[in-house]
Amino acid sequence: MAQRTRTFVALPIPADRIDRLGQFQARLAPQWPGVRWIEPKLLHVTLAFLGDVDTLDLATVCRAVAESAAAWPPFTLELEGLGVFPNPARPRVVWFGLTGPGLDVLLPLQQAVTEAVARAGYPVDDDRFHPHVTLGRIKVGRGPAFDATPILARHQTWSAGSLATSEVVTYASRLGPDGPEYNPLARAPLNGKISAGPP
Ligand code: 2AM
Repeated sequence: MAQRTRTFVALPIPADRIDRLGQFQARLAPQWPGVRWIEPKLLHVTLAFLGDVDTLDLATVCRAVAESAAAWPPFTLELEGLGVFPNPARPRVVWFGLTGPGLDVLLPLQQAVTEAVARAGYPVDDDRFHPHVTLGRIKVGRGPAFDATPILARHQTWSAGSLATSEVVTYASRLGPDGPEYNPLARAPLNGKISAGPP
């Protein structure tokens, strides 16, 4: 049987921003029951989730990601704003937002990456992209959902500072009893020139 590797493509987050986001998680946790907070060192910005990739295809996938990323320049995002998916009345995912002029690179870069992995044989299921960093997940049980509206209103102005991005990373994800483990398979530098723009 073919060996398969759970794979995703993401922007890594540098250690100082991870620390800030971890501090926010710690401040939110006592106010927000039922959230499974993600270990800070695992935080990232997902560009494309490929699911199980045939291990023989990994090199092709990593090359496709590198080729699609290479045309884009490094860029800077602002980490700001707390939000939830799908909506505050029934929150399932707690996230930190990404804003700023860097979105002008992030959005087409993400599209280029998803198109490249699709051409390599791994189309993403959901091609909508809302730039975010997932901080925690909520298991919806029986009984009334926890309404996140007041907590979101209280933390509207939270900012974790700038996120300078110069590479796109393809990760292998292993789900274990103690949670996931992410290992970089390949790093794709953003080498494009700002003045020249994308191809
Ligand atoms: P998220 O950051 O948007 O929540 C690694 O597992 C990443 O892939 C997660 O952080 C998550 O992105 C995304 N992911 C995991 N499982 C997924 C699934 N079944 N469908 C889509 N994206 C998934």
